[in-house]
Amino acid sequence: MRWHEKVVGVLDPDEVAPHFLVRGKTIDPSGRFEVRDVMHEALPHYGSRLLEASVSGSEAEIERAFVQFSAAYNAFVEGVLTMPSYEIVIDTTARWDAFPTLNQGFKLILMDEGRHITFGTEACRILIEKNPEYEEAVHEIFDAYRGNVVGLVEYQKAVPGLDLGKYQTMKVRHYRNRCREMGITPDATLIDQILDPTIDFVVGVEAG
Ligand SMILES: [Fe+2]
Repeated sequence: MRWHEKVVGVLDPDEVAPHFLVRGKTIDPSGRFEVRDVMHEALPHYGSRLLEASVSGSEAEIERAFVQFSAAYNAFVEGVLTMPSYEIVIDTTARWDAFPTLNQGFKLILMDEGRHITFGTEACRILIEKNPEYEEAVHEIFDAYRGNVVGLVEYQKAVPGLDLGKYQTMKVRHYRNRCREMGITPDATLIDQILDPTIDFVVGVEAG
């Protein structure tokens, strides 16, 4: 928001909107994967389940709901999905030789993310160590939103000339790291799918 206000002087949603990519449908032509809305679907869903559990659930229900929310937010969204996205901003601004302060800002964001991601994954590790059944609760999240992590979506494909394979490899590295921090076994099939070059999503096409 500070960058929008101080640098480009555009802050109102209506003014900002024309400068964002139109989020067209991102489709897996093979029909195997679906790209779902993580920010507006998964996080509110698992957040409200955690709230409900903390008001009226048993200790085990609260713990399981916490593991799922933290797996969705700290491990999946922040810990795997957005880390390569920050790198994309850093690489793009470097490639364009433009926006040096934005580039520096995103490097600082990366450092800060590292701190609170590991807060979330460490909390999961403690709870999973207490009850190993919670490991399945983590895999459930990554499985439900598998399509979002397997393919590249529109904003990741928006800048010509970026080495997109780099960001897929990076996702795998982050996924392995998050699993290690939580003390769980990575899903080998998910890793194979992220690295599979034949899985390539098409952007801006309506199904059917
Ligand atoms: Fe964050």
